[in-house]
Amino acid sequence: MLKDIKKIGKDLHLPITLDETLEFLIDIIKKNNAKNILEIGCAVGYSAIAMAQCGVKHIDTVEIDTERAKTAKENIRIENYDNIINVINADAKNFLDECTNKYDFVYLDGPKGQYVNYLEKLIECTKIGGIIFADNVLFKGMVRGSTPVAHGIKAMIKNLRLYLSKIENHPKLKTEIFEIGDGVSISKKIKE
Ligand SMILES: C[S@@+](CC[C@H](N)C(=O)[O-])C[C@H]1O[C@@H](n2cnc3c(N)ncnc32)[C@H](O)[C@@H]1O
Repeated sequence: MLKDIKKIGKDLHLPITLDETLEFLIDIIKKNNAKNILEIGCAVGYSAIAMAQCGVKHIDTVEIDTERAKTAKENIRIENYDNIINVINADAKNFLDECTNKYDFVYLDGPKGQYVNYLEKLIECTKIGGIIFADNVLFKGMVRGSTPVAHGIKAMIKNLRLYLSKIENHPKLKTEIFEIGDGVSISKKIKE
């Protein structure tokens, strides 16, 4: 069934999580025994359903686009995960500004140029020992590789570089970067 949702995402030309990245994501969730997850960037629910399938207790997933959020809710209902996955149709910034929850895992897959702006609030919303897993941090080799930065995305790439530099030097985080899929960072919160 996940294949059908992947097809819906592809048909809508949505950049849903790559197979290799999804496999890694699930592996890290299982290894860390994560039960309470926040996802930024739900699209049509593909990665949220994949995460729900690995025995987690609760997922809050935030999506700014109303149509996508509606499709995600429908997919989640059909898959019988509506008792686990809560789709929030909102701008992640507004959600985070109001957020008082503490998660043990964050899957950051929303607007790439905003990761750096979300960071402090995400750290606040993560438990000690919890993980912030961010996708696309190497963005097609443009962030740290030799690929020239495409026209029109200079600001986004600059912000991804800033995000990497912040998470690598943050006193509350221990970070590793992986050349998996489009580049993944895993930051563990080590102190409050
Ligand atoms: C890469 S897609 C998410 C894919 C999804 N995680 C998956 O693999 O199934 C990014 C999503 O973030 C959403 N998005 C963009 N800006 C956002 C914002 N400011 N707040 C919340 N969601 C946003 C987009 O509409 C898009 O659906």
